[in-house]
Amino acid sequence: MNTPKKPTASTSTPAEKLWGGRFDESTDAFVEEFTASVSFDQRLYRQDIAGSRAHATMLHSVGVLSAEDISQINSGLDQVEADIAAGKFEWSVSREDVHMNIEAALTEIIGDAGKRLHTGRSRNDQVATDIRLYMRDACDEAASEATRLMEGLLQLADKYHDTIMPGFTHLQTAQPVTFGHHLMAWFEMLLRDLDRLGDTRRRLNKLPLGAAALAGTSYPIDRNITRELLGFDGVCENSLDAVSDRDFAIEFCSVAATCLMHLSRMSEELVLWTSSQFNFIELPDRFCTGSSIMPQKKNPDVPELVRGKSGRTYGNLMSLLTLMKGQPLAYNKDNQEDKEPLFDSVDTLLGCLRAFADMIPAITANEAVMREAAKQGFSTATDLADYLVRKGLPFRDAHEVVGFAVRHGVENNTDLGDMSINILKQFSDIIEEDVFAVLTLEGSVNSRAHIGGTAPDQVKAAIERGRKRLSTTYQISA
Ligand code: ARG
Repeated sequence: MNTPKKPTASTSTPAEKLWGGRFDESTDAFVEEFTASVSFDQRLYRQDIAGSRAHATMLHSVGVLSAEDISQINSGLDQVEADIAAGKFEWSVSREDVHMNIEAALTEIIGDAGKRLHTGRSRNDQVATDIRLYMRDACDEAASEATRLMEGLLQLADKYHDTIMPGFTHLQTAQPVTFGHHLMAWFEMLLRDLDRLGDTRRRLNKLPLGAAALAGTSYPIDRNITRELLGFDGVCENSLDAVSDRDFAIEFCSVAATCLMHLSRMSEELVLWTSSQFNFIELPDRFCTGSSIMPQKKNPDVPELVRGKSGRTYGNLMSLLTLMKGQPLAYNKDNQEDKEPLFDSVDTLLGCLRAFADMIPAITANEAVMREAAKQGFSTATDLADYLVRKGLPFRDAHEVVGFAVRHGVENNTDLGDMSINILKQFSDIIEEDVFAVLTLEGSVNSRAHIGGTAPDQVKAAIERGRKRLSTTYQISA
């Protein structure tokens, strides 16, 4: 993202304002600052210029602007765009926002043709168009970072498809799972986020221009031309709604908040797993920092920060919902408040996805530690119960038998798989030598061999399906 340039403040006379005609008094200096948005909406300059070019071209097609006007407007906009990109553009607070800064600069360069650009248009449909164009790119960028992250997960899951670790419920050891299976759970969360991003993009890709201030325009415009030029799939069907709708901003913030909630959950696990108490994984040094006082420390800063950043995305979503709830139709100045929360969610989502996409493939697992941990906590107790059921015992009775065996194990500090057959037979005489096959970690995970189960073969199959699903989830209509 480009860093906004600080606009120059000035107290201008009414005549210098693009709307100064009906005013006697200059705007109060503080009010000018207070109502201006140029410090943060200048990041929309590319979209604003693209929208202006399309609008002008359409006006020419329907005979409202001459060929001469169009060529001047286009070359003037070229110059404005180049100046902004080069950091040479003087943003001014007295010109309030990105739209009037650009239009005024254009008019300074090309004269009267610049003044004709705003024919049949209002800043209300202009800003709505700019944000939609901006958000379309933001969705595409987020989708590409999310895809990179999911590719990393697939790669890591493949590497560790048969690595055994404890699976948890209530953060207590529950049953053995494969690390690849755990990573593929993360993949599922993110794939839903990608799907939601695609939904958001599909719904926002509609053209507001033509709605003008609120009621449409009396010029013989052809909205389909503008739509086509800007690559929108359709036009907003009601002019009042076109200028006032910010659902797409709310939807994006909701997707960002949900995705950050997922990244935060992953972060929590990464933080736990890198602690010396768990010691399940290693994060490379380049994603960690040290402590200024404790020389031994290697802190998992990236996951911690991502976990922390989830908060602001929830806040941004609440801001936008609250911003919209009391607004009567159509445009109100309140809407100017949509940008900062929205842009913050865009930046936060892109930054967090990027950090994770870089970090995830670089994770290494301490497989021996994971395996040892999986043997603690009687993780194969359910397997013993299932064994008894296969031998004819009703499940509730089997559950009780295993409960006794576990109690014995706790008292004598012995895992189920380490008990002798004679001991095990004390709990149920239908237990035979073949029980040891199910009490091993491999026996346990291999037996969960259905779709969605943790068996290594199933993880492999899930990765294969995952690759296909990833390539078809975020589809952009041509
Ligand atoms: N800066 C304004 C915004 O962000 C642009 C639209 C202003 N329209 C108006 N009628 N004042 O919403």
